[in-house]
Amino acid sequence: MNKLIFPPTPKSIRDAAKLIGSGSLVAFPTETVYGLGANALNARAVDKIFQAKGRPSDNPLIVHVANVEQLQMVAKNIPAVAKLLMKKFWPGPLTFVLQKKATVPTNVTAGGTTVAVRMPSHPVALKLIRQSGCPVAAPSANLSGKPSPTTSKHVAEDFSGKIPMILDGGNARHGLESTVIDVTGKRVEILRSGAITPHMLQDVLGYLPEIVQKKKGQIRSPGLKYQHYAPSVPMILMGSHETHVMIMKLAKMVQTLQKKGLRVGVLCVREHQSYYRAANKIVVCGSRKNPASFGRSLYGSLRKFSQKNCDILLAEHVGSDGVAHAIYDRLTRAAEEIM
Ligand code: TXA
Ligand code: MG
Repeated sequence: MNKLIFPPTPKSIRDAAKLIGSGSLVAFPTETVYGLGANALNARAVDKIFQAKGRPSDNPLIVHVANVEQLQMVAKNIPAVAKLLMKKFWPGPLTFVLQKKATVPTNVTAGGTTVAVRMPSHPVALKLIRQSGCPVAAPSANLSGKPSPTTSKHVAEDFSGKIPMILDGGNARHGLESTVIDVTGKRVEILRSGAITPHMLQDVLGYLPEIVQKKKGQIRSPGLKYQHYAPSVPMILMGSHETHVMIMKLAKMVQTLQKKGLRVGVLCVREHQSYYRAANKIVVCGSRKNPASFGRSLYGSLRKFSQKNCDILLAEHVGSDGVAHAIYDRLTRAAEEIM
């Protein structure tokens, strides 16, 4: 088999940049999740992303830049408040929805007048984008609907034989996608939660930005209307309960489902694993005291459940404040049901 995963040596980063320049796809590490990149100014290269992922064409892509010049290639009329936020949070896990320049092909923005832009902080991503010499459009490097990849191995599971190269950059530090904000209106609004929380943005804005996923019945960030992050078996998520009530409910449900002949998987924090010993498969995901650790392992943990080891998966609720909001958002969209 041809080699697919490459350590991020100067030579392999150069090769990857050449592939991007010639209209190919390359998967690369970022601090949030791995991205599947193409030259954002080449419509045909961008088409390959949609084909490889099986992504609906009405779901726009994030354009990744390594410097202000590349930002100005794709966006115009950048508001002062956006510049302030960029100064504080770039490079990093914050994506800005801005007015698009005509140079950006319509498939990148799904025909819309705005473009989403982010400067990632992972050094391999920055080097790759800089050397490619063009802004790089990149969604998460997973098949549409599946959990996002936080290691190069996850990318290979989904794209082996379909793309020429994956740059390895270790485990993704955040493990959840960037916060997406719309800065084209009067007030900044959060379209997707991530590691940059409303309170962190408030320090710059002077007000607490709202998390707005729908307006007048319309979904603001098109990606949010699709089922996402789904493990390969159905998942039931526990709702908001006192911790001891949640543990009792979940443990009881393990038994009830097993009596029906189902093999039951459980996703829980380290501190709670002993309560679910009866489960057929337990995957421990981070610690109760540290929501960021749960976020980091979430997608990798979801990928560990399969028809081989269980028929149904029960996931603990880990709160919904601050960083945990992004986790709760992803879990609710991965789940078939909340109990
Ligand atoms: O952390 C991340 O953002 C990762 C890494 C690779 O950078 N990328 C990522 O891309 O998560 P993707 O394609 O999986 O998610 C992009 C999200 C989608 O929900 C999409 O609908 C939204 O951003 N989006 C893109 N352009 C938009 C626009 N012009 N207006 C509103 N939402 C937009
Ligand atoms: Mg995605």
